[in-house]
Amino acid sequence: VSKEITINDFVPRWYQEPIFDALENKGYRKIIICQPRRSGKDLACWVAMIRQALQRVGHYYSVYPTYSQAKKALYDAMTIDGKKFIDYIPKELIKAQNSVEMKITLVNGSILQFVGSLDVNKLVGSNPIGLCYSEFALQDKLAYSLLRPIIAGNGGFILINSTPRGRNYFHELFKVAEQSDEWFTLYLTLDDTKHIPLSEIEAIIRDGEMSEQLVAQEFYCSWDIGISGCFYGHYIDAMHREERITHVPWEPSHPVFTSFDLGMRDNTTILFFQLIGREIRIIDCYENNSEGLEHYAKVLQDKQYIYGKHIAPHDIQVRELGTGMSRLDKARELGIRFTVAKNMPIIDGIEQVRTILPRTWIDQVKCRPLIKALENYKREYDETREVYKEKPVHDKFSHYADAMRYLALGIPRMNTTTSPEELDKRYQEAVYGRSTGQDFFNDPQFY
Ligand SMILES: Nc1ncnc2c1ncn2[C@@H]1O[C@H](COP(=O)(O)OP(=O)(O)OP(=O)(O)O)[C@@H](O)[C@H]1O
Ligand SMILES: [Mg+2]
Repeated sequence: VSKEITINDFVPRWYQEPIFDALENKGYRKIIICQPRRSGKDLACWVAMIRQALQRVGHYYSVYPTYSQAKKALYDAMTIDGKKFIDYIPKELIKAQNSVEMKITLVNGSILQFVGSLDVNKLVGSNPIGLCYSEFALQDKLAYSLLRPIIAGNGGFILINSTPRGRNYFHELFKVAEQSDEWFTLYLTLDDTKHIPLSEIEAIIRDGEMSEQLVAQEFYCSWDIGISGCFYGHYIDAMHREERITHVPWEPSHPVFTSFDLGMRDNTTILFFQLIGREIRIIDCYENNSEGLEHYAKVLQDKQYIYGKHIAPHDIQVRELGTGMSRLDKARELGIRFTVAKNMPIIDGIEQVRTILPRTWIDQVKCRPLIKALENYKREYDETREVYKEKPVHDKFSHYADAMRYLALGIPRMNTTTSPEELDKRYQEAVYGRSTGQDFFNDPQFY
């Protein structure tokens, strides 16, 4: 008895067709594609892999930057029409499905599995015959170098897709591939794919969702930001990969420190963070402009946190002409005793931020503006010489980036070793309120 099963539920868009053609008709074993955000990279590669798995029995891996990204992007993903990516495999062809391991066994014995790039060393020793790397520019590079030799020996295929992330190893590999007859390469921008209307892209820029530079990268596949333009791009990528941009709850038994970028005629930003063990946990942030210090004192007071030190930039000590008072004095009158961050050139402060980012956690919801600012904080571009300057651009993203810099410079001035008894006392105070009338803004314990 034979039965016919239709697997062609997927109709490739014109720009997705070359991937199938290269793999199925032209015999390419190595394919690398660079395409804009939301253009259907994953879906096309996923369907291409299913079709291979039906033809040659073996183990196929779909590698994502992290396990949860794999789950979100493919295993749980749905198309805009509500069709699950998994449903592109006809039900009759699935023998078993393990949701924890994200593993699908087909009736012919082929196995399709989703993994995070950080877990790839567990796969060494296995014998995959198909590898698909999604969002390659964000992956741990080892995921490629460890598995690639296996494919070379067994006639399998490698399918790599990504949107650029500066001139990193994805860029390097793409450039090598372009020069090689073994690789099939495909580089497309929104001008080619036209999968999102231009009016929508303009709105993204207008609403401040993305800087023009980020749009150039995400939709026009520019390689130019990242290493050269953005100060923290790779560090934020690593934070995403290691899932340190996540839900970061306030721990009531630990003090909350703040870091201020006090703008005179400009925006003021505040970061709220906790120091727990070696971890720096940024739990909250605030931004406003044209308000006096009284306003920010009230912002602090309105939050239920118990405060440790407050860090301010060096220039807070400058005395104003006329009154002869500094903002440091003014703040003290309002009950905030600032710790002044070390005075350092901006570029050294940026380096200091880079040294602390690997042990920093940021709340992905409350601190969205901070994350956006760190992702967009970039060097000035010298149009005539066509090079990036050392100096950062002063724009709407620089205020949070400055508060982050003061945080990094202020960290060495914090003493946070606390006894278990003190932690318990503070927890009680946070939950049940304080018994004594202490200075509200600075817990003497930390001052
Ligand atoms: N050939 C197709 N037919 C129908 N819908 C498609 C097709 N290709 C892509 N799509 C739609 O585009 C959406 C995005 O696809 P996919 O997740 O593969 O893109 P991506 O380029 O990996 O996106 P991102 O850059 O966000 O990771 C899918 O959910 C689906 O709705
Ligand atoms: Mg994708």
